[in-house]
Amino acid sequence: MDAAVTAMPEPTALADREETGRQAFFDTLLSRQSAWPLTGPGPSDAELDLIFDAALRAPDHGRLSPWRFVCIRGEARSELAEVLVDIAAAREPEKPRSAHEHRRQRAFAAPVIVALGAAVAPRAGIPEMEQLLSVGAATMNMLNAIHALGYGGFWATGADAYDPLLQSALDFEPTDRLLGFLFIGTPKSQERSALRPPRANHVREWFGRTSI
Ligand SMILES: Cc1cc2nc3c(=O)[nH]c(=O)nc-3n(C[C@H](O)[C@H](O)[C@H](O)COP(=O)(O)O)c2cc1C
Repeated sequence: MDAAVTAMPEPTALADREETGRQAFFDTLLSRQSAWPLTGPGPSDAELDLIFDAALRAPDHGRLSPWRFVCIRGEARSELAEVLVDIAAAREPEKPRSAHEHRRQRAFAAPVIVALGAAVAPRAGIPEMEQLLSVGAATMNMLNAIHALGYGGFWATGADAYDPLLQSALDFEPTDRLLGFLFIGTPKSQERSALRPPRANHVREWFGRTSI
């Protein structure tokens, strides 16, 4: 008999393998949690490609591709640290510059930082909110990909993230919206956080109109 034919797995073995793969997928999906603090190592170039490819699978009404991600790592983080202090000092000029120095730590809080941008385009039938949601969905895909690769991720915003000066320092278009930063690295601790709330608190079924 042909060797290739004898090597074919039994249908039940194939089904078992598919079931194992499905289980592994859900184990990963359901065990994700945000990780903070983070340290090195961060994802490699090839791993970052996977993370961004996962982002680009997000749903996107009208195929507007609103996703704009800016990856900041290595030495560029020193410049980001400088920018963070500069913009905080410009926002609160009454305070001495030294009062903002602690912001530098943010730039070194993870080996890789991704600025999450949305290029919002005016389109009939596709409100801005949907375009922002698409970037949110892309970010969620990245968080899952980061977790699947064995790293930790944390999505953070704050006053700096919404400061137009930061947006322009990172070379976003003036019409883009900055939706925060995704910190990526290795979790310093493997501790589990609190459990999720019960599903029943968040999900209900609708059986049709009750008041007709
Ligand atoms: C859009 C957005 C912005 C966030 N900004 C912050 C933030 O600035 N600081 C913070 O501590 N958590 C922030 N979070 C929450 C954390 O990213 C994280 O979701 C939270 O700590 C809960 O962790 P979990 O993802 O394991 O449930 C933000 C979450 C989202 C979705």
